[in-house]
Amino acid sequence: MSRGASSSTVAELLSSRQVAPSILAADFARLGEQVGDVLAAGARVLHVDVMDGHFVPPITIGALIADAISEQVHDAGGIVDVHLMVEGPERHVDAFVEAGADIVTIHQEATPHVHHALERIREAGCRAGLAINPSTPVDVVSEVGDALDLVLCMSVNPGWGGQSFIPASVDKLARLRGRLPAGTALEVDGGVDESTASQCVGAGATLLVAGSSVFGAADPGEAFRRLAATMET
Ligand code: DX5
Ligand code: ZN
Repeated sequence: MSRGASSSTVAELLSSRQVAPSILAADFARLGEQVGDVLAAGARVLHVDVMDGHFVPPITIGALIADAISEQVHDAGGIVDVHLMVEGPERHVDAFVEAGADIVTIHQEATPHVHHALERIREAGCRAGLAINPSTPVDVVSEVGDALDLVLCMSVNPGWGGQSFIPASVDKLARLRGRLPAGTALEVDGGVDESTASQCVGAGATLLVAGSSVFGAADPGEAFRRLAATMET
């Protein structure tokens, strides 16, 4: 049973340009306070990076943490954007939907059953996203186009925050944009900061994930505002 935001709220946010702060870079000893800071600054998409120690080496966040922030995010009119960097992600969809996820994104490289997993996410009441690693060709998204609401283009290799943006990602975003229906959200994740954000937006990205450039700053709310300003037309 979904505990997510209303369908109209999700649709509205997914059809707009948003900076999505990644809590991976937050201070977990005061997570609620830090999430509150970026919500107060206008953030409406909170990105949750889930790593299992198999698909990527680190182990990070599970459904418990998504559950811990989801009410706060929804009360502020926001949505919870879960990025599953886990093997066999179809096994974990229900737990994150029950925790309040509004978007669940799986990796093309993490399961032989991508189409099935995307269908499972939608059946569970969430929007479905497909992430691709830097070395994965853009054409894979064309094969499942009808089954997804969002494409996430990794602009670093998944597994760690604080890495440098891979410059070839700008051209890759433009190629992805050209293969997607106009309404499909295009998210870019990794190394996004004030120096790379506008190139991503220029190439067609609509959601910018930002971890260390927001939560690594002395004032995350102010860092969010500055980054969001780079998305304004
Ligand atoms: C990396 C994660 C990212 C990460 C981004 O595997 O998917 O969401 O938090 O961190 P920064 O913005 O620091 O590159
Ligand atoms: Zn992510």
